[in-house]
Amino acid sequence: MAGQADPSPIITIERHILDEQAFHPEATGVLTNILYDLALAGKVIASKTTRAGLAEILGRTEDVNVQGETVLKLDRFADLTVTRLTDHTGRLAGLASEENADFLPIPAPYPMGKYLLVFDPLDGSSNVDFNMPVGTIFGIYKRKREGGPVTEEEFFQPGRNLAAAGYIAYGTSTMFVYTAGHGVHGFTLDPSVGEFLLSHPNIAMPAAKYFSVNLGYQRFWSRGVQRFTEYLQGREGGVQGLSLRYIGTLVSDFHRNLLAGGVFYYPADTKDPRTARGKLRLLYEAAPLAFVAEQAGGYASDGRGPILDVTPSSLHQRTPLFIGNKDLILKVEEFIRGLDG
Ligand code: AHG
Ligand code: MN
Ligand code: MN
Repeated sequence: MAGQADPSPIITIERHILDEQAFHPEATGVLTNILYDLALAGKVIASKTTRAGLAEILGRTEDVNVQGETVLKLDRFADLTVTRLTDHTGRLAGLASEENADFLPIPAPYPMGKYLLVFDPLDGSSNVDFNMPVGTIFGIYKRKREGGPVTEEEFFQPGRNLAAAGYIAYGTSTMFVYTAGHGVHGFTLDPSVGEFLLSHPNIAMPAAKYFSVNLGYQRFWSRGVQRFTEYLQGREGGVQGLSLRYIGTLVSDFHRNLLAGGVFYYPADTKDPRTARGKLRLLYEAAPLAFVAEQAGGYASDGRGPILDVTPSSLHQRTPLFIGNKDLILKVEEFIRGLDG
């Protein structure tokens, strides 16, 4: 077999990310290494999520455990894990996370890099207590200028500027899914060897099979969103045969729909001013997943236009989100335009 290519090579995440670098002859390898750092963070977080139920025995969260350490809540642990594995490498200039009100500049004496990381360390954290899947979402932007202290405004870039984005899904297996603008690729963690292996190359969304939404809030939605919901249920000329699936973890709902086809939406609330712009966060939930969706042939909208075109004006800004199969997301835009003015 000498000289012949292996017909079914085992592709580790490291090899795949390095191969992708070939698409960017100007690349210095920094982005590659950030992705690799995040994959490592994913392994560390996964090892904790699988032990979540043991808190009862080993110490409740926020209690002092047998070693005299405080047992951290899982979302705080995930936040610290990502931060500690990325802040000293000289690759990032700053980080913004759901868990912190302000962005985090790179602490002295670590060198400062040219990328900005935005992330939701533990998405769906209310599901942890019930042995349900959770996730981590990330987006990587390049700084617009090099050198000098980072300002909050530098994080206010539209999703179109994302250099890479993706998520880690902690489900029945742990998966790392990312795009750097050349398709969407998924890796499954083989726990016996501790490596993410390429399991889902070039993911493309098939025709919709599912819709995912919290129907408990239906009465708070606009007429356009109500009409869209009827349409998905096959009423009055709507699409036939969709099933409803809702986990309540954005990453998991999105991941299922990405592989099986479908739409997820979390609309604005017309009655409650606190959620008048929806619940989900533009910078570290909606925009990174919108990039993944578009790279897989799907689309994400705030109901009026592409999520990827929206420039945030604050770190924790909320947005309505409609994401999944393009034909269906264009349909909700049409209903909103026609019925909500
Ligand atoms: P987080 O745990 O990061 O705060 O996110 C929770 C989000 C998201 O994952 C999910 O889609 C949504 O909240 C579910 O909200 P409802 O319980 O209102 O349906
Ligand atoms: Mn979240
Ligand atoms: Mn979260």
